Amino acid sequence: MSDKVIIFDTTLRDGEQSPGASMTKDEKVRIARQLERLKVDVIEAGFAASSEGDFQAISAVAAAVKDAVVCSLARANDKDISRAADALKAANAKRIHAFLATSPLHMAVKLRMSPEEVLEQAKRSIRFARNLAEDIEFSAEDGYRSEMDFLCRVCEAVINEGASTINIPDTVGYATPELYGEFIKTLRTRVPNSDKAVWSVHCHNDLGMAVANSLAGVKIGGARQIECTINGLGERAGNTALEEIVMSLRTRKDYFDMVCGIDATQIVPASKLVSQITGFVVQPNKAVVGANAFAHTSGIHQDGILKNRDTYEIMRAEDVGWSANKIVLGKLSGRNAFKQRLQELGIAIEAEQDLNEAFVRFKALADQKAEIFDEDIIAIMSDSAAAEDGEFYKFISLSQHSETGERPRSKVTFKVGNKEASSEAEGNGPVDASLNAIEEIVKSGAEQLLYSVNAITSGTQSQGEVTVRLSKGGRIVNGVGTDPDIIAASAKAYLSALNKLHDPNQVKLNAQMTP
Ligand code: KIV
Ligand code: ZN
Repeated sequence: MSDKVIIFDTTLRDGEQSPGASMTKDEKVRIARQLERLKVDVIEAGFAASSEGDFQAISAVAAAVKDAVVCSLARANDKDISRAADALKAANAKRIHAFLATSPLHMAVKLRMSPEEVLEQAKRSIRFARNLAEDIEFSAEDGYRSEMDFLCRVCEAVINEGASTINIPDTVGYATPELYGEFIKTLRTRVPNSDKAVWSVHCHNDLGMAVANSLAGVKIGGARQIECTINGLGERAGNTALEEIVMSLRTRKDYFDMVCGIDATQIVPASKLVSQITGFVVQPNKAVVGANAFAHTSGIHQDGILKNRDTYEIMRAEDVGWSANKIVLGKLSGRNAFKQRLQELGIAIEAEQDLNEAFVRFKALADQKAEIFDEDIIAIMSDSAAAEDGEFYKFISLSQHSETGERPRSKVTFKVGNKEASSEAEGNGPVDASLNAIEEIVKSGAEQLLYSVNAITSGTQSQGEVTVRLSKGGRIVNGVGTDPDIIAASAKAYLSALNKLHDPNQVKLNAQMTP
């Protein structure tokens, strides 16, 4: 029988550390529900001690998730570990994930601790965590750049204290596949009690090798847990991409001889949801989930595919959840049809009032746009979720004038708390004028790092999805807005980013930057 690889998803924790990818509580719950449909084994929902917002989000995910193990990251100290345990109280199955750096550089410069002190703290923290939960993971941060003898001592000690999963991160993405695989193998061979724990790999993609390194950690090293994120989301160049791992294990089962429990047909919906919520667009040529991943345009390829799909296809688009854009609903569709489509898309709405509000948004969109696609429905639900989160700034309307040879002017009306505000401004273009009008009132002074527009389906009838990334006081946030009118979508995106800057819960510690 083939061995099982545990899929540990850290989109909501390490993925969220990507600048601007921070998610609200409700967004995390929506993604967690999709991760359950995907059947990941472990969902790392956040880093409880990093902020009050993250604590609340982990608690909400713990309450919502039924089957997967829900996990919180914690520094290897009593305070963080207690906070993680408290956040996980409602979970059916919980895991505390404690980490401590073990590389000479991190110990000397970041922690300012001697190796012996690190060893003692690692032991103490796992002993403490074991009183609060059964399932404990220990991560040796910057593990791949640690000295083998010392790392072996730390791993042996934390297993003795009760850690049941040992994770060896390549925190800075420095590893290469064969060397990383051998590194894990050496650890497993030299640590005397290595058979008492599951060995886990956690790779960053700085050299574009995170997926290859993780697979080598499994194949050569004997690891049986892979930590990964949807779309490879993560800071800098990102983390190991879940979709590439899963499809590699499946497509090359002849070589890896491993199984995982993932329902691959949920991969594309998960990818779209994460992209839509974070505003991180998936590159078209991205493996498995990119828009072109299954597109054959050359005549020779098309001819081959028509004769026999195996000529140029190693995977089926439908196996990973790609379906042709379908016109699902329109202006005449009723509430029941809308509700049913939501169910088919796996979007759960519990309160009747939430369904009513989403239906009102759907009707408003159907008045503007004849054909409503699945992507439109997902966007409507993202807007509804943002509204539930309690927006401080809320778009109401926009009027705008532009003419060749004249400076465009825009008037934007929006809610500021409970009051309605309106302002007019000029700009280089209609979008610039609209954002200037908003700034006239908000005066955030935030720096714009990114502005991007995407059509969420095909053709000029599509809704525009705009992402705006802002930076202020060391914080970076993304706002996403959708509308058939891209100027209105831009104003919505800008207000959504301002809402995140306005929310104190969004200020959080980053695991890699903590003392
Ligand atoms: O990359 C890393 O080292 C991490 C740990 C905190 C697990 O994300
Ligand atoms: Zn990481």
